[in-house]
Amino acid sequence: MKIAVLGAAGGIGQALSLLLKTQLPAGSELNLYDVAPVVPGVAVDLSHIPTDVKVQGFGKEDLADALTGCDIVLIPAGVPRKPGMDRSDLFNINAGIVRNLVDAIADNCPEACTCVITNPVNTTVAIAAEALKAKGVYNKNKLFGVTTLDVIRSETFVGNLKGLNPANVHVPVIGGHSGTTILPLLSQVKGVEFTDEEVSSLTTRIQNAGTEVVEAKAGGGSATLSMGQAAARFCLSLVDAMRGENVVEYTYVETNSDDAEFFSHPVRLGKNGVEEILSYGELSEFEENAKQAMLDGLRGDIALGVEFVKG
Ligand code: 2OP
Repeated sequence: MKIAVLGAAGGIGQALSLLLKTQLPAGSELNLYDVAPVVPGVAVDLSHIPTDVKVQGFGKEDLADALTGCDIVLIPAGVPRKPGMDRSDLFNINAGIVRNLVDAIADNCPEACTCVITNPVNTTVAIAAEALKAKGVYNKNKLFGVTTLDVIRSETFVGNLKGLNPANVHVPVIGGHSGTTILPLLSQVKGVEFTDEEVSSLTTRIQNAGTEVVEAKAGGGSATLSMGQAAARFCLSLVDAMRGENVVEYTYVETNSDDAEFFSHPVRLGKNGVEEILSYGELSEFEENAKQAMLDGLRGDIALGVEFVKG
């Protein structure tokens, strides 16, 4: 497996690269790209960890070399939120960054699975899709918005609330990756009962969890370590799936449903990316109302991405 991390010297990129260096299967290659001049140093630093994963750093001018032959490309590049900002406030800077990186993916490794972490994910995934379409290489089975952080946060918060080991809690999360578009399906958590009040307050906490980190970091950025863990989990699942294992993850992909063009669903991953988009099942009345209330916003976020590329 050859994997590239674009934005590897940033907070998410470094955490993610560390986890991949220690957990990718033996024989893998990890290409670290960043415009920040520290990237060769990050690669040397990681290369001293004794695993059979070859790490190489690529600077500003070496994007094509970083991407050539890659099976999976992860994109955490871009600027993070500061207190008071919404993910959509990052659009002006991050949209162009994602567009340029995806253009390079189309030119150098069009067959790769592209996993977008850069916010606003609701919109940047649509930008990536349109950029790939413009180059004639779009494959909807190979483009993912990483929403795994919403899943792991939900598992943690439910585990903590109910006195359970969060590692044994599984919470489906559908929709998008911003505010009310994040929709945890607490009605589907097995073996746990919630009061109406718990459902309402847990849902709000999960939807605002990114902001909780932004405020706690007080101007120092947004979630990096938990996002690194979430993206590593998603990437390692994709690697397992591409090597023939049966893996299901919740991820933001192009769907044929009436909800929105892109929507986080349970997805069976396989050798070629999306193997099957699974149904998210029955929603409670609370969840159905929350879904209906957020769909227009999510569709608007997606339209913004399409418009950015198409003009
Ligand atoms: C978060 O949810 C950074 O979007 C990321 O915290």
